[in-house]
Amino acid sequence: MNITYDESTRTFKLDTPKTSYLFQILGEEGFVGHVYYGARIEDTDLSYLLCVGPEPFAPSHTDRERASYMDKFLSEFPGHGLGDYRESCLNVRDEDGHEAVQLLYRGHRILKGKPALKNGFPATFAGEEEALTLELILEDSVLGLTCHAFYTVFADTDAITFSRYFKNESDRKLIIKKADSLSIDLWQEDYELLTLHGSWARERSIDRRPIGYGKTSVGSFRGESSHQEHPFLALVSGKATQETGNVLGVNFIWSGNFLAQVEKTQFDLLRVQMGIHPDQFSYVLAPGEEFQAPEAVSVFSAEGLGHMTRSFHDLYRNHLIRSPYKNKKRPILINNWEATYFDFHTEKLLSIAREAKKVGIEMLVMDDGWFGHRNDDNSSLGDWTVNEEKLPGGLKYLVDEVNKIGLKFGIWMEPEMISPDSDLYRAHPDWAIQVPDRIPTRSRNQLVLDLSRQEVVDHVFEMVANVLRSANIEYLKWDMNRQLTDLGSIGLSSEHQGELCYRYVMGVYQLQGRLVKEFPNLLLENCSGGGARFDPGMLYFGPQIWTSDDTDAIERLGIQEGTALVYPLSSMGAHVSDCPNHTVGRITPFRTRGHVALAGTFGYELDITKIPEEDRAMIPAQVEMYHKYNDLMRCGDYYRIASFRENHYYDCYEVVAKDKTEALVTYVQVLRRPNQHGRVLRIPGLDPERKYLVTFDDMEKKDLHLTGGALANAGIWMEEQWGDYRSVLIHITAE
Ligand code: GLA
Repeated sequence: MNITYDESTRTFKLDTPKTSYLFQILGEEGFVGHVYYGARIEDTDLSYLLCVGPEPFAPSHTDRERASYMDKFLSEFPGHGLGDYRESCLNVRDEDGHEAVQLLYRGHRILKGKPALKNGFPATFAGEEEALTLELILEDSVLGLTCHAFYTVFADTDAITFSRYFKNESDRKLIIKKADSLSIDLWQEDYELLTLHGSWARERSIDRRPIGYGKTSVGSFRGESSHQEHPFLALVSGKATQETGNVLGVNFIWSGNFLAQVEKTQFDLLRVQMGIHPDQFSYVLAPGEEFQAPEAVSVFSAEGLGHMTRSFHDLYRNHLIRSPYKNKKRPILINNWEATYFDFHTEKLLSIAREAKKVGIEMLVMDDGWFGHRNDDNSSLGDWTVNEEKLPGGLKYLVDEVNKIGLKFGIWMEPEMISPDSDLYRAHPDWAIQVPDRIPTRSRNQLVLDLSRQEVVDHVFEMVANVLRSANIEYLKWDMNRQLTDLGSIGLSSEHQGELCYRYVMGVYQLQGRLVKEFPNLLLENCSGGGARFDPGMLYFGPQIWTSDDTDAIERLGIQEGTALVYPLSSMGAHVSDCPNHTVGRITPFRTRGHVALAGTFGYELDITKIPEEDRAMIPAQVEMYHKYNDLMRCGDYYRIASFRENHYYDCYEVVAKDKTEALVTYVQVLRRPNQHGRVLRIPGLDPERKYLVTFDDMEKKDLHLTGGALANAGIWMEEQWGDYRSVLIHITAE
C-alpha cells in the first residue's frame, strides 16, 4: 500500500496491493479530476486521460463553454446546479433557497493508520502499520461549507474506503439534501451491472444485466438496508468470470436508506455512486455544525469476481468486525423458533436442551414469545418482562437449569419495536414513529419506536440491559421485523423531519454500541425478518447476522452464494432445520442440510425431541464435522466453483486455508441430470507445485493424490449420483 502526492502534476496516487487509484488537482480553483482506478500501475502522471485538448483540462479553462465542459469532466466531487447535469455527489440548499454547490481542493494530509469516523459511526479500522489515509480538505467558499474526505488503503486487502464529513463554516443555515459517500467516474468498458435483489425468504439473489444509457439504481427508503435491494453494486466486464476480468464492487457501511447508482452518459462515461438515499432525507446544518456521511467501500479486481469477494472478506474480517468472537468458533446453537414457534414453556425448552446436550450442541436459544402476553405476533413488543405462565420461576430459573444441563443460553429480542397492544404503548403512544392525525400503518401488527429521540433510546437500552443483567445470557438475537413508514417524529421540529431515518439508524448504532460496551462477551446476532439488515454497518457491532428465514438447504445455496459474494462466511447465520421445510415444503437429506449450514455459523432450528431417529443419530457426526472444519471455513479464502443458479443442476464452492495446506470443497448435486455420467470440477487456489491428498466423505470413491496444479487445471471427476439434493464434502490436505 502507498499514498503519494506528486507536486509537479498535483496528482494523488493511492495504491493497494494490486490496484491504483489516481486523481488530480486542476486549475487555479482546485477542481478534483478523477484520473484512473484499476489494476496497479507504477506511473504517477496519467493526466492525458483528463485532456480535452493538449492540456489536462479544468472546467474553468474555457468560460465560454464552461457548462458543456463541466458535463464531461471526470469529477471526483461532482457538484450540483453548475453545469454538470449528471448525478451530483452533494446537493445543498442555502437560506435563500438556492441549490448550487461545487467542492474544490484546499489542502490535504497523509496519515498513518485510519482515523475513526465521528459520532461512533460504524467504520473500518486499522493500526498505524496496516493502513494509510489521505485526508482531503475541500471547500465551497460561496456557501461556507467545508468537506473532509478520507480515503484509506490497507496493506492486506485491495479495498479502498471512502468517508466524508461536512462542516458549516458560514453564519447561515445550510440544508444538506444529498451527500454521497463515494462517487467514481470511469470510462465505459464492456461493463455489466451486478446487484443483489430479493424479498423475504429469498435475500440477495445475484442479478447481472447490461448497463443502458441513463441512470440505473438500486436503493432503499424502508429505513433499513432491506430484503429487497442491497447496498452493493458491481460493474463486471462482460467476459468476467470468477477468476478473470475487471470488476469494480462498491458496498456501504450503513444500515439505513441508501442509493447505489450507475449512470451512463452521452459520452459513454460511467458514474458510480453510493450514499444515503436523497429521498426522504434532508439535514439542517446550523452555523458551526457538522454532518457525517457513512463510509463506503470499493474493491477493484482485475482477477474476476472471486478476487473482489476475497478482498471484501479480508477487509470485513480484519478491519470491521470487532466482536471478541470474530476469530473464534461460535457455539453450536439450537433455536426453538421452527421447533415450537410461540407454543413453549420451561419444561419444553429444557427437554430440547437435554436432548441437545446428548448430541454435542452447545447453546439453547429461546426465540420469540417469552415476554408480556405474547402467544402470537399481535402483542407485547416493548414489554420485556418474562411471561411467568410460560416460564414459571422466570428467566433466571430457566437459564440456570439450562446451564446445569451443560448448555449456554441465548435469547431473542426485538428492541426497536412497539405493539399497540403493550403497556409501553399505552404509556407512551407518542414513542411510535408516526405522522400526526394519520393512523399509523401497521406491519405484523406492530409499530416502530422513534429511536431519533434520546429518551426512547435510553429507555430501550435499559429494557435490553435489564434482561441481559437478569441471568447468565451469553447470546442475543436482535431482531427487527418491520420496515419504517409514516415518517414523522414528535421529537423533531418541522425543518428537521427529514433527518428522521438518518437519526433512527444512529439510534440503533448508539444502542448496539452501548450494549457491546456493557456486555463485551455477548455474542450478538443481528436479524431482520431473516436477512433484511445484513450489511457491514451491523457487522461492526455483531459478528454474525441471520441470513434468511428460509432454511431450506437448496434455497440457501442461492441466498448464501449472493451473501458470500460480499460478506465472510463467518458472518452468515445458517441452521439445519426440519423437513418438510417450513418455507418451501421441500424434503432434503439431513446430511445435505448439514453440509450447507457448515458454510455459515452452523446450528439447529428444529425440535430435537421429535425429529426422526435417523436424523438425530447424524447430529454427533455433524457436530464433529463443524469442529473439524470451522476454523478453515471461518478464516480461509472462498472460491465459487459452480453455481446452481446458473447451471440449474449443481452447486460447488471451496474454502482454501490462507497457507494453502488445506481446502474443503462442498459439492451439491441439486438435480440428477438424466443420462449424465458426471462432471469435472476444477479446484483453484492451491499451491500448483504441492502434492495434496484428496478425500471424499461418505462416498465409495478412492482417495486421490494430485498437485495443486492438476486440481486447478485438470480437476477432479464427480460421478452423477442417484437422486436429487445429494452432497459431498471433498477434503484436500497437503502431503
Ligand atoms: C423473524 C426472525 C425469525 C424469528 C421470528 C420471530 O422473522 O427472522 O428467525 O426470530 O422473527 O418472530
